[in-house]
Amino acid sequence: CGIIGILGRGDVADQLVDALKRLEYRGYDSTGIATLQDGRIARRRAEGKLRNLEVKLASDPLPGRTGIGHTRWATHGRPTEANAHPHATDRLALVHNGIIENYRELRFALEDEGVRFSSETDTEVVAQAVSHEMASGLDPQAAVLAVLPRLRGAFALAFLFEGEEDLMIGARRGSPLAVGYGDGEMFLGSDALALAPFSDDITYLEEGDVVVATRAGASFFDESGTPVARRRQRIPVGVFAAEKGNHRHYMIKEIYEQPEVVARTLAPHLDIEQAPALDWKAQQRLTITACGTAFYAGLVAKYWFERLGRLPVEIDVASEFRYREAPLPEKGLMIVVSQSGETADTLAGLRYAKAHGQTVLAVVNVPTSSMAREADLVAQTHAGPEIGVASTKAFTCQLATLFALALQAGRARGHVSAQEAQALAETVQRVPGLMHEAMALEPQIEALARDLAKARDVLYFGRGAAFPIAMEGALKLKEISYIHAEGYAAGELKHGPIALIDETTPVVVVAPYDHLFEKTISNMQEVAARGGRIVLITDEEGAAHAHIDTLATLVLPKMDPLVAPIAYAVPVQLIAYHTAVFMGKDVDQPRNLAKSVTVE
Ligand code: G6P
Repeated sequence: CGIIGILGRGDVADQLVDALKRLEYRGYDSTGIATLQDGRIARRRAEGKLRNLEVKLASDPLPGRTGIGHTRWATHGRPTEANAHPHATDRLALVHNGIIENYRELRFALEDEGVRFSSETDTEVVAQAVSHEMASGLDPQAAVLAVLPRLRGAFALAFLFEGEEDLMIGARRGSPLAVGYGDGEMFLGSDALALAPFSDDITYLEEGDVVVATRAGASFFDESGTPVARRRQRIPVGVFAAEKGNHRHYMIKEIYEQPEVVARTLAPHLDIEQAPALDWKAQQRLTITACGTAFYAGLVAKYWFERLGRLPVEIDVASEFRYREAPLPEKGLMIVVSQSGETADTLAGLRYAKAHGQTVLAVVNVPTSSMAREADLVAQTHAGPEIGVASTKAFTCQLATLFALALQAGRARGHVSAQEAQALAETVQRVPGLMHEAMALEPQIEALARDLAKARDVLYFGRGAAFPIAMEGALKLKEISYIHAEGYAAGELKHGPIALIDETTPVVVVAPYDHLFEKTISNMQEVAARGGRIVLITDEEGAAHAHIDTLATLVLPKMDPLVAPIAYAVPVQLIAYHTAVFMGKDVDQPRNLAKSVTVE
């Protein structure tokens, strides 16, 4: 969910809505704002996307110079107006990101004391609990500090109080929150992106911090109420510029940006002569964790680190890794991969690794993110802001960065000679050009999409480093078209998925012409023999050697198979995009998803 709070000079409703637009990537199930009008709380909330709230505000404006706003990704309670934030009592209004895990017991205790609830959310329990403390005589700050220690879970909160035109209180535990300083104004937001148009003068709250803000300044406290000092920093506004330009959707714009941003990302990471900041030689094993698309980038990297660096890699999704109590090598190295740098599970994985003596390297796109701040080392991907919920350019930039790191590891560990390293650096630098050429497949993919749109299920297959690309392709398709899709290791076909093959289930096969090509094609013969319809993604040589009937063969330029995963991401992205567009789906904001998931 996204949070914004403003102590303004004039009416703040427009600014709140503007900030929520920038926060919609955190969820868009419902939105709402609250302001103080003559000291009293007034709210407007709406189900669904922000434009529904804008329509409401157009006919029923909300004046007031003190306000908070929220865009929700539902956890507890359906995305109805009643469950939309801000939640309010007759004393305060509140917006919340995260989950209050013990909300039931807190709610029962308050209900026993006669408190009546008006929503199903975990958030309202915080509003009612603080309100209850105020009813017994505590001032807002004392009431918030009294309630916070009772809450279990992860959250960021922003409060307004009746009769307090010059007060906003925020709290952070687990979910990010930042303060932006203005000229006689003060802002609170989930991240610097929300605050970008208002202020580039930012303080990030640390774990457990509470901030008490007025128009004159902000004071920070730890959870026990002891004052703490926090650093102010300049976050340049320009880096957040993100416009759709002439493109129909952000997603296609971002797919097209890939050659440029991958090249931009590679440049600083390919300086092989530069002494690596990491002692690759000392490593026995590398651990990688991430979620979603970033996890698939990590899976591809496993092939690279093992091949180039002869470094064993253990990789797991962060939601599993964080709770597995995995034994980690002494003084080992952990890589976390994340576009946002805020994903709750990945952040918890990072903290677990640090607590267990690992050096943590974060491959992140947002340099001011929690992961970037908490990791020992950062390898930034320079994808620029990614707005489409389905990750595209962030993924290929992650791949590019991880390839450069694997190359560095190979060099440092003595498995790649200086000459080979130079050659591989040149090979990967040609990838942006190859991605550009891959865009030429678009008309063919657009035609194919009409066929795929009729499918109920689509299977994706690949071997070696193409296997994670098959999984990423399946993930992209299900995310935005809602067609069921699965990615499988091609060799596993005969162990189950072959039962699904018939003429209604298209099979997409990601098959660069490499040492595994013949084996993958044999598997596809098994598909063809059972009436399966094949979409073969390969290169010129692969197309010449395949000898197989296909529904479509998408031919990429010839390239070194080692870097193929980066370029092969393009056709699988385009397949998902055009299928979803043909089906009339909302590709930039698919149902139920959020771009950045700061709850576990
Ligand atoms: C969400 C997004 C995915 C993304 C994943 C991890 O589920 O919808 O596109 O891959 O989170 O996000 P991160 O910011 O950590 O890369």
